[in-house]
Amino acid sequence: MYIQEEIQALNALSRSLIQGLTPDDPKQAVDALRKVINYHDWRYYVLSEPIVSDYEYDVLFKELRAIEDAHPALLTADSPTQRVARALNEDFENVEHTIPMLSLDNSYNADDLMDFDRRVKELSGEAQVAYTVEPKFDGASIALIYENDILTRAATRGNGRFGDNITNNAKVIKSIPLKANFSQYGIRKIELRGEVIIEKNTFEAMNASRIENGQDPFQNARNTASGGLRMKDPNQVAQRGLEAFIYQIGYVQDDAGEELKIGQSYSQHANTDMLYQLGFKVPTEERGLFKSMDEVIAFTSFWEDKRDDYNYEIDGLVVKVDDYRLQTKIGATSHHPRWAMAYKFKAKQATTKLLDIDYQVGRTGAITPVAKVEPVFLAGVTISSISLHNEDQIKEKDIRIGDTVLIERAGDVIPYVVGPVKDARTGSEKPFQFIQTCPSCASDLVKPGSEAAWRCVNIECPAQAEERMIHFVSKGAMDIDGLGKDIVKRFMQEGLITSIPDLYQLDYEKILQLEGWKEKSVENLKKGLEASKGNPSWRLMVGLGVRHVGSTMAKALAQQVNHLLDFQDWTTEQLVDLEDVGPKVAESLQEFFTNPQNVDTIKALEGLGVNVHRGEAAGAASQQLAGKTFLFTGSLTQFTRDEAKAMVEDHGGKVLSGVSTKLNYLVAGEKAGSKLKKAEALGTIEVIDEVTFLSMLKDMIA
Ligand code: IVH
Repeated sequence: MYIQEEIQALNALSRSLIQGLTPDDPKQAVDALRKVINYHDWRYYVLSEPIVSDYEYDVLFKELRAIEDAHPALLTADSPTQRVARALNEDFENVEHTIPMLSLDNSYNADDLMDFDRRVKELSGEAQVAYTVEPKFDGASIALIYENDILTRAATRGNGRFGDNITNNAKVIKSIPLKANFSQYGIRKIELRGEVIIEKNTFEAMNASRIENGQDPFQNARNTASGGLRMKDPNQVAQRGLEAFIYQIGYVQDDAGEELKIGQSYSQHANTDMLYQLGFKVPTEERGLFKSMDEVIAFTSFWEDKRDDYNYEIDGLVVKVDDYRLQTKIGATSHHPRWAMAYKFKAKQATTKLLDIDYQVGRTGAITPVAKVEPVFLAGVTISSISLHNEDQIKEKDIRIGDTVLIERAGDVIPYVVGPVKDARTGSEKPFQFIQTCPSCASDLVKPGSEAAWRCVNIECPAQAEERMIHFVSKGAMDIDGLGKDIVKRFMQEGLITSIPDLYQLDYEKILQLEGWKEKSVENLKKGLEASKGNPSWRLMVGLGVRHVGSTMAKALAQQVNHLLDFQDWTTEQLVDLEDVGPKVAESLQEFFTNPQNVDTIKALEGLGVNVHRGEAAGAASQQLAGKTFLFTGSLTQFTRDEAKAMVEDHGGKVLSGVSTKLNYLVAGEKAGSKLKKAEALGTIEVIDEVTFLSMLKDMIA
């Protein structure tokens, strides 16, 4: 852990070192470089929030190595060059890897690869060496142990020697087999190495839904994957859509407990095929086996061109000596194997000028600073505005208006500002000052304790209202035909709407007088709005923007109640009892449904004919149980608790969570306990069994 002052000092030191302002005195230089490298390791591996590119990190690392090589007396055991050690996350059990998980050395061009080939030949004593080439996945590395064909342990890389035991989280990753038939090869225990990633389309969909729910989008897939592996709740891990590619065998033991150097054969390429056969996700057509480095080099550009075609991010290739016997002979440093080399693709970067910083008000009031830049073409798209996320990120990177900034899309679909190019400064750049008041309603902004974002907390803020309405009509929410972002904005400007219920009371006469509106377009708008009234209630729930509730969650939740406002009576315990509902969602549901404004909006919408009941448009099947309350206790045999609830609510009744004088019927199954006792003690409650409940229901609704 670092404190804020240290972070600022280290950021400054890091910037000057990257710019080449290394102290002349070698002792001072290694001290500074070690400090900064340790700091970046912490940001990368613990926080999952790196602030330098891999390339910049490499510059620092290589410089440290060069100075140590030139001054061996300065070498210490704890230098980042001498260990694979990186900081650990304390939340999980610490486990030791069977053999250390090393890093890879990096190369950037054909010359680097030729140098590597020369060293390999020297060390192996071979005149010609075959290489297997694989994609270099941009994710988080893991080690999986299978014993007697069963997955027994999964660990993160951690510091290379010790990692976090994340077995429960790995088990929710569907591409990791829980069982694989290694015994057919005489293998009793094996440790596999691989990379956990999030596929591009999954990542995009996840971000689209986060934006829809008013959450900040994830910045890039790699950090989201590595953060995902270390989440406390495996259910949430499952929602991150993680995938695992396996690319290496770490350690193998046969039935007699003897350590083997191999899997099925001596070839890395063939063993990867074996893993594929056993059900693992391995790089398939993207892989290649080459007779010489010349052949490898001839293929690098082919891969670089195809990079965007893959459904996962790769930041380069990994070139490995194919023959395991040679790998062993060539060996490794404490940092990386000498028989493998990463070949890094050029980052998708460009520089442009930062013209200004704008501010967007989200529908929850969060203020997002947005960089307005001179339009620049980068990896297929023209970019003119880029989210800067929050004040801290701008300050940390020391971005000033007028700066030339480096922007990047590597490993990411959303571009981001890596940082300013300080050498290009003329002195006319303006230090940045975050706004104090809302750009829409001018109320003072606040920054709640733990949050990174400044917020406008004025519930009547027009910008928020506009964003809320744009969200309400959007495809993922009420999906109102004929009503999009621009029309909502126009109607607001014209004073036709100020709140969501206004959408269902539009003054069509006035609209007809607006430029561009004709009978036909007004008719379409009417139709779209009319149709949306019959939407299933989950769409309304999404549309109203309950925080942390996306469409999947809303669908599940809407099934739980007959009327959306029934959630007003739910306790936190009841909510978290539902599958997939954690304390965060429960809290946000309660906040939402106890807010009188939200309740009024739902009532107003209901009054205007918008469906607020379970099921498609249909409300309750009957109202025969209206005003009646039920509670189910003990083990039920005729129906599940959810079915029972649905039956009651479909007929207008309510299910309560506890025994109180408000309760009319207690349906007691086998082994009913304290609730039954309490109900009998109260004496006002009718205690019935399941069969009686069913026949009562039949009688009532006959
Ligand atoms: S082999 C002993 N193969 O890159 C060799 N690593 O920058 C260890 N990586 O820590 C790694 N794709 O997490 C290997 N096809 C691949 C890889 C790969 C991605 C990661 C791995 C490693 C990092 C080094």
